[in-house]
Amino acid sequence: VRVRDATTEDTAAIERLLTQLGYPVRADSVVARLSRLRRAGDRVVVADVDGQIAGLAHLQVLPAIEYDAPTARLAALVVDKNRRRTGVGAALVEAMEAEARFRGCALLFLTTAEHRADAHVFYERLGFERTGRRYAKRFGD
Ligand SMILES: CC(C)(COP(=O)(O)OP(=O)(O)OC[C@H]1O[C@@H](n2cnc3c(N)ncnc32)[C@H](O)[C@@H]1OP(=O)(O)O)[C@@H](O)C(=O)NCCC(=O)NCCS
Repeated sequence: VRVRDATTEDTAAIERLLTQLGYPVRADSVVARLSRLRRAGDRVVVADVDGQIAGLAHLQVLPAIEYDAPTARLAALVVDKNRRRTGVGAALVEAMEAEARFRGCALLFLTTAEHRADAHVFYERLGFERTGRRYAKRFGD
């Protein structure tokens, strides 16, 4: 598994992966989002397995009032449904954890929906502790 920064050449794969994650998107939106996230200093990476894009991860580094150091949030993670249970997700998290440590973050955290039972097992297997709840309020579209 080779983890590398996402580029606009990965647009079709990102479209497919975000749709699998439950966030259908159009190609032109993917391009705009990638450039917005790059400007914000976030990292969006893809997992390349033999030239095929097998997964996607997004890391945000956020200044925090609770710590001197920033915090890192794994904001999105998805592995292609045909490539799951082959170590791709673990490789993506490992790369994002290395980035968070490199950038001096106090911790790496994420939120995950209640219905994602597979993800809960996965994160606990990778050493994440369940420490809270997520609340959300949606605003229109
Ligand atoms: C969660 C997800 C990213 C895991 O990616 P993956 O590439 O399949 O995970 P890995 O192969 O690296 O798994 C590493 C270990 O986690 C555990 N694990 C992963 N998926 C599991 C599952 N479905 N059931 C039980 N254990 C699981 C296993 O211990 C696994 O090691 P093993 O296969 O040697 O037993 C992937 O299932 C996915 O994309 N799911 C849909 C989207 C999603 O829920 N994303 C997270 C949003 S917060």
